[in-house]
Amino acid sequence: MRILTLLFSLWLAAGSAAAAADGPQIGGPFTMTDMHGEGVTEQSYQGKYLLVFFGFTHCPAVCPTSLLSIAHALDALGGDADKVQAVFVTVDPARDTPEVLAKYVANFHPDIVALTGSDAQVEAIAQAYRVYYARVDVPDSEAGYLMDHSAAIYLMGPDGRYLTMLRHNAEPGDIAGAVREYF
Ligand code: NI
Repeated sequence: MRILTLLFSLWLAAGSAAAAADGPQIGGPFTMTDMHGEGVTEQSYQGKYLLVFFGFTHCPAVCPTSLLSIAHALDALGGDADKVQAVFVTVDPARDTPEVLAKYVANFHPDIVALTGSDAQVEAIAQAYRVYYARVDVPDSEAGYLMDHSAAIYLMGPDGRYLTMLRHNAEPGDIAGAVREYF
Protein backbone atom coordinates (compact mmCIF):
# COMPACT_ATOMS: atom_id res chain seq x y z
CA MET A 1 0.00 0.00 0.00
CA ARG A 2 2.77 2.41 0.93
CA ILE A 3 4.66 1.55 -2.26
CA LEU A 4 1.58 2.22 -4.31
CA THR A 5 1.15 5.61 -2.62
CA LEU A 6 4.83 6.41 -3.23
CA LEU A 7 4.57 5.40 -6.87
CA PHE A 8 1.46 7.48 -7.24
CA SER A 9 3.16 10.57 -5.75
CA LEU A 10 6.17 10.07 -8.01
CA TRP A 11 3.86 9.78 -11.00
CA LEU A 12 2.05 12.98 -9.95
CA ALA A 13 5.36 14.82 -9.44
CA ALA A 14 6.67 13.64 -12.82
CA GLY A 15 3.41 14.72 -14.42
CA SER A 16 3.45 18.23 -12.98
CA ALA A 17 7.17 18.68 -13.78
CA ALA A 18 6.48 17.72 -17.39
CA ALA A 19 3.52 20.08 -17.54
CA ALA A 20 5.63 22.94 -16.16
CA ALA A 21 8.39 22.28 -18.70
CA ASP A 22 5.89 22.20 -21.54
CA GLY A 23 4.13 25.35 -20.44
CA PRO A 24 0.53 26.00 -21.42
CA GLN A 25 -0.73 24.02 -24.37
CA ILE A 26 -0.85 26.81 -26.94
CA GLY A 27 -0.16 26.28 -30.61
CA GLY A 28 0.52 23.02 -32.42
CA PRO A 29 0.04 21.57 -35.87
CA PHE A 30 -2.09 23.40 -38.42
CA THR A 31 -2.92 23.33 -42.11
CA MET A 32 -3.71 26.68 -43.73
CA THR A 33 -3.36 28.62 -46.98
CA ASP A 34 -1.00 31.59 -47.16
CA MET A 35 -1.61 34.88 -48.97
CA HIS A 36 0.02 33.48 -52.13
CA GLY A 37 -2.52 30.65 -52.18
CA GLU A 38 0.08 28.09 -51.09
CA GLY A 39 -0.74 25.38 -48.56
CA VAL A 40 1.30 25.75 -45.37
CA THR A 41 1.65 23.95 -42.04
CA GLU A 42 3.51 24.71 -38.81
CA GLN A 43 6.48 22.93 -40.46
CA SER A 44 6.68 25.69 -43.05
CA TYR A 45 8.07 28.07 -40.43
CA GLN A 46 10.18 25.69 -38.39
CA GLY A 47 13.45 27.21 -37.21
CA LYS A 48 11.95 30.68 -36.85
CA TYR A 49 10.46 32.46 -33.90
CA LEU A 50 6.84 33.14 -34.72
CA LEU A 51 4.84 36.20 -33.73
CA VAL A 52 1.29 34.96 -34.25
CA PHE A 53 -1.63 37.34 -34.27
CA PHE A 54 -5.27 36.56 -35.08
CA GLY A 55 -7.65 39.11 -36.56
CA PHE A 56 -9.44 40.18 -39.73
CA THR A 57 -8.89 42.79 -42.42
CA HIS A 58 -12.17 44.66 -41.74
CA CYS A 59 -11.12 45.23 -38.14
CA PRO A 60 -11.54 48.95 -37.45
CA ALA A 61 -8.89 49.49 -34.81
CA VAL A 62 -7.24 46.73 -32.84
CA CYS A 63 -5.81 44.65 -35.70
CA PRO A 64 -4.26 47.53 -37.64
CA THR A 65 -2.66 48.90 -34.46
CA SER A 66 -1.22 45.53 -33.46
CA LEU A 67 0.04 44.81 -36.98
CA LEU A 68 1.72 48.21 -37.10
CA SER A 69 3.41 47.50 -33.75
CA ILE A 70 4.55 44.10 -35.01
CA ALA A 71 5.88 45.77 -38.20
CA HIS A 72 7.82 48.32 -36.16
CA ALA A 73 9.11 45.55 -33.90
CA LEU A 74 10.48 43.73 -36.96
CA ASP A 75 12.23 46.92 -38.03
CA ALA A 76 13.58 47.40 -34.50
CA LEU A 77 15.05 43.87 -34.59
CA GLY A 78 17.18 44.85 -37.57
CA GLY A 79 19.25 41.90 -38.84
CA ASP A 80 17.73 39.67 -36.13
CA ALA A 81 14.36 39.98 -37.85
CA ASP A 82 15.58 37.15 -40.12
CA LYS A 83 15.06 34.79 -37.18
CA VAL A 84 11.45 35.89 -36.80
CA GLN A 85 8.32 35.28 -38.86
CA ALA A 86 5.27 37.39 -38.13
CA VAL A 87 2.07 35.52 -38.97
CA PHE A 88 -1.36 37.13 -39.24
CA VAL A 89 -4.17 34.56 -39.09
CA THR A 90 -7.63 35.63 -40.21
CA VAL A 91 -10.72 34.71 -38.23
CA ASP A 92 -12.85 35.90 -41.16
CA PRO A 93 -12.00 33.48 -43.98
CA ALA A 94 -15.25 34.29 -45.83
CA ARG A 95 -13.91 37.74 -46.72
CA ASP A 96 -10.19 37.34 -46.13
CA THR A 97 -9.15 35.42 -49.23
CA PRO A 98 -5.42 35.08 -50.02
CA GLU A 99 -5.68 38.06 -52.42
CA VAL A 100 -7.35 40.30 -49.82
CA LEU A 101 -4.80 39.27 -47.19
CA ALA A 102 -1.84 39.85 -49.49
CA LYS A 103 -2.89 43.45 -50.12
CA TYR A 104 -3.72 44.01 -46.47
CA VAL A 105 -0.51 42.83 -44.82
CA ALA A 106 1.62 44.54 -47.49
CA ASN A 107 0.33 47.82 -46.00
CA PHE A 108 2.17 47.01 -42.79
CA HIS A 109 5.38 45.14 -43.59
CA PRO A 110 6.72 43.12 -46.54
CA ASP A 111 7.73 40.26 -44.23
CA ILE A 112 4.40 39.59 -42.55
CA VAL A 113 2.76 36.36 -43.69
CA ALA A 114 -1.04 36.07 -43.64
CA LEU A 115 -2.97 32.83 -43.38
CA THR A 116 -6.53 31.87 -44.22
CA GLY A 117 -8.30 28.55 -44.71
CA SER A 118 -11.61 26.76 -44.62
CA ASP A 119 -13.95 27.47 -41.71
CA ALA A 120 -12.82 24.20 -40.16
CA GLN A 121 -9.12 25.00 -40.58
CA VAL A 122 -9.52 28.45 -39.05
CA GLU A 123 -11.54 26.96 -36.22
CA ALA A 124 -8.82 24.39 -35.58
CA ILE A 125 -5.90 26.84 -35.48
CA ALA A 126 -7.89 29.28 -33.32
CA GLN A 127 -8.68 26.46 -30.93
CA ALA A 128 -5.01 25.43 -30.83
CA TYR A 129 -4.04 28.98 -29.85
CA ARG A 130 -7.06 29.34 -27.53
CA VAL A 131 -8.33 32.24 -29.56
CA TYR A 132 -11.95 33.24 -29.21
CA TYR A 133 -13.79 34.73 -32.19
CA ALA A 134 -17.41 35.30 -33.14
CA ARG A 135 -19.28 37.04 -35.92
CA VAL A 136 -21.18 40.17 -34.86
CA ASP A 137 -23.71 41.45 -37.38
CA VAL A 138 -23.74 45.21 -37.89
CA PRO A 139 -26.64 45.61 -40.33
CA ASP A 140 -26.33 49.37 -40.85
CA SER A 141 -22.61 49.33 -41.55
CA GLU A 142 -20.87 49.06 -44.89
CA ALA A 143 -18.95 46.03 -43.65
CA GLY A 144 -22.17 44.19 -42.73
CA TYR A 145 -20.50 42.34 -39.89
CA LEU A 146 -17.46 42.45 -37.68
CA MET A 147 -15.58 39.70 -35.91
CA ASP A 148 -15.25 39.86 -32.17
CA HIS A 149 -11.91 38.26 -31.33
CA SER A 150 -9.30 37.89 -28.65
CA ALA A 151 -6.15 39.71 -29.66
CA ALA A 152 -3.01 38.55 -27.91
CA ILE A 153 0.31 38.33 -29.77
CA TYR A 154 1.82 34.87 -29.31
CA LEU A 155 5.56 34.29 -29.38
CA MET A 156 6.44 30.75 -30.41
CA GLY A 157 9.93 29.23 -30.40
CA PRO A 158 11.81 27.86 -33.43
CA ASP A 159 10.70 24.36 -32.35
CA GLY A 160 7.06 25.45 -32.43
CA ARG A 161 6.72 25.68 -28.67
CA TYR A 162 4.80 28.44 -26.99
CA LEU A 163 7.13 30.93 -25.25
CA THR A 164 5.06 33.89 -24.16
CA MET A 165 2.15 36.14 -24.99
CA LEU A 166 2.01 39.91 -25.40
CA ARG A 167 -0.91 42.27 -25.09
CA HIS A 168 -2.43 43.43 -28.39
CA ASN A 169 -1.43 47.00 -27.48
CA ALA A 170 2.19 46.14 -26.68
CA GLU A 171 4.70 48.74 -27.90
CA PRO A 172 7.05 47.75 -30.72
CA GLY A 173 9.96 47.94 -28.25
CA ASP A 174 8.17 45.52 -25.89
CA ILE A 175 7.61 43.04 -28.71
CA ALA A 176 11.19 43.25 -29.99
CA GLY A 177 12.49 43.01 -26.41
CA ALA A 178 10.37 39.94 -25.66
CA VAL A 179 11.68 38.21 -28.77
CA ARG A 180 15.31 39.11 -28.00
CA GLU A 181 14.97 37.61 -24.51
CA TYR A 182 14.63 34.18 -26.11
CA PHE A 183 17.41 34.46 -28.72
NI1 NI B 1 -9.21 42.99 -34.82
